[in-house]
Amino acid sequence: QFGLRDYAVRHVLRIGTAVDVNALQNEEQYRQVLAREFNSVTPENVMKWDTIEPVRGQLNFEPADQLVDFARRHGQMVRGHTLVWHSQLPSWLTNGNFTNQELEEILRQHIYDVVRHFKGKVYSWDVVNEPLNEDGTLRDTIWLRALGPDYIAKAFRWAHEADPHAKLYINDYNIEWIGPKSNGMYELVKSLKEAGVPIDGVGFQGHLGIQYGFPGDIQQNMQRFADLGLDVALSEVDVRMILPVTQEKLTTQAEYYRRLMDACLNVRRCVSFTVWGFTDAHSWVPGFFQGQGAATIFDENYQPKPAYFALKDELTER
Ligand code: G3I
Repeated sequence: QFGLRDYAVRHVLRIGTAVDVNALQNEEQYRQVLAREFNSVTPENVMKWDTIEPVRGQLNFEPADQLVDFARRHGQMVRGHTLVWHSQLPSWLTNGNFTNQELEEILRQHIYDVVRHFKGKVYSWDVVNEPLNEDGTLRDTIWLRALGPDYIAKAFRWAHEADPHAKLYINDYNIEWIGPKSNGMYELVKSLKEAGVPIDGVGFQGHLGIQYGFPGDIQQNMQRFADLGLDVALSEVDVRMILPVTQEKLTTQAEYYRRLMDACLNVRRCVSFTVWGFTDAHSWVPGFFQGQGAATIFDENYQPKPAYFALKDELTER
């Protein structure tokens, strides 16, 4: 049986999904669809700091290693997610009273520990995740406070030292269209490139909702980043809707997925398209947005939705 990964081969494109390791461990159907459809995986949670180091100095790579092993057995590449973020930090870190210098040392050690552990197994890293405010300025985080704006450049340099072959990305949401936030990202990565910081790409998360409209200039926007000499990726795509599901909403949703794929295929340096979960049975959306859901390409019974066929058609018919 063919899957999206087979339709993607004639494009220079990785087709991926975020993986919920709980479901991976417990559901045969989840494993089957995951293996059949995708040639790239991103751990949804298990490479985040609170999972990797729940107790200071005690590294817990077990769940992530399971995913990496599954990926190896099924010919899937692994996108590492994520090294530097303001969220899902262990409480020993957020509650500890560390000096700025200690925090810098802790962050450096974290990046070394994690990147070295997965060296040669993770082909790209979301080194810095969600660094921007909606107005394009740097978000106020523990890292900005402790290290200053330079924390971003430092993180990339440390990650590069730990694995010189890994592709290093910066990743954010609400940067799909041209506006203050994506302009802020553009200026940021431009200055990183000019300073010789080892950054390879920009991830556009792509968490959309049909009630908000489609970012019609996404192709043009991704292209301007590509023109800086960077790869671009759609890194966390889902398209949510206000429940209940109707046929009309599913059709609109499918159109959004199709247009995202179209934009990516039209940008030569758009190297991967990752959905943030592939089944409505395991999606972050209902837990975060009350009354919303059905954001993925398979329904809760692992039946492909119109959005699935939209991606398939887009990959096969052009
Ligand atoms: O691990 C605990 C578990 O022990 C406990 O029983 C359970 C009870 O609620 O919670 C579990 O932790 C949850 C974790 O997901 C694993 O399921 C957290 O509460 C929950 O907050 C966490 O949510 C994740 C979220 O990031 C955290 O910010 C979502 O699954 C994940 O999809 C989401 O992913 C982010 C990307 O990393 C970055 N971009 C946005 C995207 C969507 O928010």
